[in-house]
Amino acid sequence: MLGRRLHDLRLSVTDRCNFRCAYCMPKEVFGRDHSFLPKSEILTLEELARVARLFAGLGVEKVRLTGGEPLLRRDLTKLVAMLAEIQRLKDITLTTNGSGLAALARPLREAGLHRVTVSLDALDDGIFRAMNDVDFPVGRVLEGIEAAVEAGFGPVKINMVVKRGVNEHEILPMARRFSGAQYILRFIEFMDVGNTNGWRMDSVVPGSEIVEVIRREFALEPLAPNYAGEVARRFRHVEGGGEIGVITSVTKPFCGSCTRARLSADGQLYTCLFGSHGHDVRALLRGEPDDAKVMRVLASLWSAREDRYSELRSSMTAVGPKVEMSKIGG
Ligand code: GTP
Ligand code: 5AD
Ligand code: SF4
Ligand code: SF4
Repeated sequence: MLGRRLHDLRLSVTDRCNFRCAYCMPKEVFGRDHSFLPKSEILTLEELARVARLFAGLGVEKVRLTGGEPLLRRDLTKLVAMLAEIQRLKDITLTTNGSGLAALARPLREAGLHRVTVSLDALDDGIFRAMNDVDFPVGRVLEGIEAAVEAGFGPVKINMVVKRGVNEHEILPMARRFSGAQYILRFIEFMDVGNTNGWRMDSVVPGSEIVEVIRREFALEPLAPNYAGEVARRFRHVEGGGEIGVITSVTKPFCGSCTRARLSADGQLYTCLFGSHGHDVRALLRGEPDDAKVMRVLASLWSAREDRYSELRSSMTAVGPKVEMSKIGG
């Protein structure tokens, strides 16, 4: 046992998404005939709020709502309001593709959401449309980001997954567009999550290279982590303010300080992003009315974990099937 504390809970609220990013939900696999979870298998808002409260009792201070695309979940603002009532939660956040954010930023803020992260891989409209693979225009996501800033979510985090030969030339345009105090831009190394995204090491642009590219134009100064276990290595723009970060889970793994539990929309608990199976928390929630008993099981699942996939990646010869990213929201 590695004794890592439990600090964050990532709750996937739907397995559906309106985008088909090739690194996450490639069309060949998530096509028209793909069957998504039926409603009866998805945790209700009440079940989600209960499990968040129980995790908060075990020390979780931060909840991140994910998907698929979380804004597709009906009554998401209601869920946020329910989470906002849990005293011990200090940070309620959301990771979205931004496509529906222009309309929802304000109601989410009013419901009690603290922060928003928007995934955006390119500013160039053609590259962006190709990467989301549903021809979604970048302008609508940019409107969503601005709506989030106006609703008071600043600084808004922007996540850019960098893939060699696909969007690496967008690194500098993105750094220019999102410098300044309203944004925190983070570059994520393309990861071998799931089984379907055709990952190869030579498609990964290492975080160190990304920082070098930005340094050609901007003076950067390293920053200390905000908290133990933060996944991004952070840098401050010396001129003009603003911050960037690189998430180097491939070239510099951070399993030793991994504090995140992930719950899929159908209530399966994954203690690693690269896990092969989840623990059936839905059955527990639906079958056990006693909160204390559920908490004991959750605590023992967490303390038994030995995951450190990213640290072992290079030495592994065979890898079994892994959970899909769209099921557990990154
Ligand atoms: P902050 O609260 O803003 O610091 O959020 P965060 O660092 O939890 O950020 P976010 O959830 O946006 O994480 C960004 C991305 O980093 C995720 O979507 C994943 O792709 C990757 N990531 C986050 N946590 C882990 C982890 O535990 N392991 C691995 N391998 N990657 C992770
Ligand atoms: N590698 C790295 N990041 C990924 N994401 C989704 N799939 C991958 C992958 N294969 C990112 C999304 C989003 C976050 C939830 O995870 O772009 O920002
Ligand atoms: Fe949807 Fe996000 Fe996956 Fe893209 S990365 S397909 S936006 S869940
Ligand atoms: Fe945590 Fe697994 Fe990521 Fe390592 S690979 S940091 S154990 S989620």
